[in-house]
Amino acid sequence: MTAAPAARAAELRAQIAQHDYRYYVLDEPQIPDAEYDRLMQELRALEAQHPELITPDSPTQRVSGTPSSAFGEVVHQVPMLSLDNAFTDEDVQAFDRRIHERLGVAGELDYVAEPKLDGLAVSVIYRDGLLERAATRGDGVTGEDVTANVRTVRAVPQRLRGQAPALLEARGEIFMPLAGFERMNAQARERGEKVFVNPRNAAAGSLRQLDARVTAARPLTAFFYGLGTLAGASLPGRQGQLLEWLRALGLPVCPDTRAVRGVGGCLAYYREMGERRSSLPYQIDGVVYKLDRRADQERLGFLSRAPRWAMAHKFPADEALTAVKGIEFQVGRTGALTPVARLAPVFVGGVTVSNVTLHNIGEVHRKDVRVGDTVVVRRAGDVIPEVVSVILERRAPDAVPVQLPRSCPVCGSQVLRVEGEAVARCTGGFTCRAQRQEALRHFASRRALDIEGLGDKLIEQLVEREQVSSPADLYALTLPQLSQLERMGEKSAANLLAAIEKSKHTTLPRLLYGLGIREVGEATALALARHFGTLERLMDADESAIQQVPDVGPVVAAHLAAFFASDEHRRVIKALTDKGVKWPDMEPAAGSAGPQGLAGRTVVITGTLASMSREQAQEALTARGAKVSGSVSKKTSFVVAGSEAGSKLAKAKELGVPVLDEQQLLALLGGESR
Ligand code: IVH
Repeated sequence: MTAAPAARAAELRAQIAQHDYRYYVLDEPQIPDAEYDRLMQELRALEAQHPELITPDSPTQRVSGTPSSAFGEVVHQVPMLSLDNAFTDEDVQAFDRRIHERLGVAGELDYVAEPKLDGLAVSVIYRDGLLERAATRGDGVTGEDVTANVRTVRAVPQRLRGQAPALLEARGEIFMPLAGFERMNAQARERGEKVFVNPRNAAAGSLRQLDARVTAARPLTAFFYGLGTLAGASLPGRQGQLLEWLRALGLPVCPDTRAVRGVGGCLAYYREMGERRSSLPYQIDGVVYKLDRRADQERLGFLSRAPRWAMAHKFPADEALTAVKGIEFQVGRTGALTPVARLAPVFVGGVTVSNVTLHNIGEVHRKDVRVGDTVVVRRAGDVIPEVVSVILERRAPDAVPVQLPRSCPVCGSQVLRVEGEAVARCTGGFTCRAQRQEALRHFASRRALDIEGLGDKLIEQLVEREQVSSPADLYALTLPQLSQLERMGEKSAANLLAAIEKSKHTTLPRLLYGLGIREVGEATALALARHFGTLERLMDADESAIQQVPDVGPVVAAHLAAFFASDEHRRVIKALTDKGVKWPDMEPAAGSAGPQGLAGRTVVITGTLASMSREQAQEALTARGAKVSGSVSKKTSFVVAGSEAGSKLAKAKELGVPVLDEQQLLALLGGESR
């Protein structure tokens, strides 16, 4: 049964508009994307057969096929204002105090608090409910006509719902959600194209396209938060009611907007959003407080270009400019040369940053960072600071590109960069002081042999004085030797000696991890120990035998085989056991943890597992001696992450705690989860 084409087209348009509304405004999608696409296809086919049925507000008309040569100018009837900024609690208190004084009122005032979205302000005019024109803010008085581009943004309705006023100018922000931004950049990177620096630039670059078909392909969305011109309806008396009204008209409003009371409420909201900032699906650079009552807003009015009744409270900047003083190469445990930019100290993201890793020489060349350059440094949340880009306009004409050194800056050995590998390495091995130092640091670290009190400074001295060159030498240290070190009293020397003694009782996984074999992290060390049971068996195994271990591929197997093939390494291992370092053998169990195989391990389970409940996983782990904990800390041995794992997984990554997926867990449990 087919309805008349005109009726069917109208029905499809109504359905699509309804689904857009549910998706963008209510955030409650009702149908899968595929079903939505099917409705669009049917409408497109119908309109192709009957072009006379096409209406200007049809969802098929969002993308116009004709690029223009320039944007037209739009004069804003009501100027688009900007906001004053507050950076401290005191700034916000002063703002609230000024309002009290001007209004001559006492008591707590009502505010609406909103996220300060990091996008592009737009004005969208609806005449008799139909989208007529969209414009950028421009200088606040004159903006650019971006109607064709804004039409492609599905969150912006083509037609308002319900009782639309004769004329309504909605104001809000067009932005790119973080997920879309990352997806787009990943695709660009894959194609070797330029990536956008941040979601704001991506949104601006996407909206200001002369060919709206380009905009249509970008993941833009919008939230509305204010009004410009209005005719044929009366203005709601409060900002909170205005937002409700906009939502009722089918315009998306940020769901994290909230009514608050007084300065206290404002500051509590600021702190809450600060904490949630890194997990929000969109980027914000602060929050905005708006006095709720319209009558009060009107009494206060404007000062120059910002209203007296609103204020932006900014988060500490997470990007700043600074100068590169030098680029040095650090030598790591495996000889990897890591370029580190020494910066003129700069306050960014709440801390002072003076060193930033550039990861590898490829990265230095890709970003083209040179000594003397002015660079953008970013530190968002708790993430490691990074150099985002170079301000090329400020580059000195004689700035020289950074070269990979031919010889190790520490020991002078040759530096090699294997074809196709990003990392360059010092070939000095244990003869290189830096590598020795890092190897010792790793050996003594908490998750390896756990020698309490053996810090970097001490290791540096011991290596410098040539008292220690391999881990085995640690076990020959004497009290007089230790007491002579700088900043070392008799008491702490004795404590350190006791800690060294204590570390002799260890486990095979800890020892294997502590040896610092390339690519052998904790999870791999555990799997190896469990598979082979004894160190001797692992040392005698060839590459193909090593590859039998779950999750050990050819690369790791090759590193292991090469490590144990070295006489030097075998000597160190023998010296360790000669000095009394010992560990219990493990029950070899074909890749699975036998009884008590996980004794002493603390495990956190997060996310949803497909093959068992969390309780079953917990039972199986505790049956093998593990302790299952609810929160991730540095003490966690590993985290089991199922699907939709969230903050615990993030925390594990942040702390460098090993993460096992469900397959690895099953391998660990030997396939028998009950
Ligand atoms: S209100 C008179 N509310 O911030 C009110 N602006 O610094 C003027 N912005 O140009 C704007 N989120 O692009 C307002 N919830 C929000 C906002 C917001 C982001 C941007 C907007 C504006 C700029 C002013």
